[in-house]
Amino acid sequence: MIESTLRDAFHRPLRDLRVSVTDRCNFRCTYCMPAEIFGENYKFLPKTEVLSFEEITRLTNIIVRLGAVKVRLTGGEPLVREEIETLVAMLRGIDGVDDLTMTTNAYLLPKKAQALKDAGLERITVSLDSLDDAVFRKMNGNRSSVQKVLDGITAAEKAGLQPIKINAVVQRGVNDNTIVDLARWAKDKGYILRFIEYMDVGNINGWRMDDVVPAKEIVERIDAVMPLEATERNYKSEVALRYRYQDGGGEIGLIASVTMPFCGACSRMRLSAEGAIYTCLFASEGTDLRGPMRAGASDNELEQIVRQTWGNRVDRYSEIRSGQTDPARKVEMYHIGG
Ligand code: GTP
Ligand code: 5AD
Ligand code: SF4
Ligand code: SF4
Repeated sequence: MIESTLRDAFHRPLRDLRVSVTDRCNFRCTYCMPAEIFGENYKFLPKTEVLSFEEITRLTNIIVRLGAVKVRLTGGEPLVREEIETLVAMLRGIDGVDDLTMTTNAYLLPKKAQALKDAGLERITVSLDSLDDAVFRKMNGNRSSVQKVLDGITAAEKAGLQPIKINAVVQRGVNDNTIVDLARWAKDKGYILRFIEYMDVGNINGWRMDDVVPAKEIVERIDAVMPLEATERNYKSEVALRYRYQDGGGEIGLIASVTMPFCGACSRMRLSAEGAIYTCLFASEGTDLRGPMRAGASDNELEQIVRQTWGNRVDRYSEIRSGQTDPARKVEMYHIGG
């Protein structure tokens, strides 16, 4: 694969595309889609405003041509989008996609894992914040037991979606007392567990710095029970700091976007469910592609918009945040899929 020539204002290449396929989710995680706000009367995007599979595939093609080699499907929850495996098969057909994966809460995986694998999905990342049922239910708005997620993970394993990664958001006083148990379980199972520092994405989760458990502290707490040693990043723009167990029993990752930001190598572009591209997780607005696309723009015209958007990119929110959340209106996580 030729190294992409497209660079942003800080010379960062475009390597990863994260595609949000829906703004809906069957969970109500308190840090993402709190049930008080996302109740029965919440207006999600009407179907006509959500990109069709053909539209997603067309835009992905253009973005891959400009250098993206990794494509990740996200949401909301990607598995609540009907026939999502059809989209996987369509994206699999794009030349230049080296890595095709998905971040999911796993609830629907028992039904979907095999179809996803057959369609060409390679691996999967599952969000699971705790193995303690009461803690987990509290975090997901009481939408799922731990067992349901474990069933999903087992289904993914059976279907051969490998390696399996587990993402856990850590919030002080909520699930931080359960991180060692989670680490022990993942180690036994051979899953790559990544702890994510709770971030101030969006404006609705009431984030406070005090709620963040710094990655350093997470490492110390696990290291005290199961000794760890630092290891290299797999690739330059990888978000996770890696540590391996000294006994050779696998590794964990730390996504320390609050205490050790990684904007310097950030190569991620996000495509929202309604067809706007965002160049930062903390952006306040995106660049609409759906409008021009539905008005008849050619691939070249759409490519120009993407080029210009990436070329002008100066985002490095996490590096300049400095401890306090920015009061400006930011896009919500479920909207662009994390
Ligand atoms: P791999 O390809 O498996 O290494 O995964 P990934 O690096 O794409 O990680 P994943 O999508 O699982 O991201 C894990 C989490 O890290 C996301 O859900 C976000 O919470 C956070 N994250 C990912 N990208 C960014 C980013 O660009 N900025 C910030 N601040 N956080 C990010
Ligand atoms: N801080 C950190 N991670 C978050 N996620 C969602 N909201 C936040 C937040 N405020 C994570 C989810 C999932 C991924 C898509 O993003 O747990 O693993
Ligand atoms: Fe849904 Fe994931 Fe957000 Fe939880 S974090 S509400 S599972 S999109
Ligand atoms: Fe990239 Fe923005 Fe996250 Fe920094 S804050 S790593 S620029 S998405």
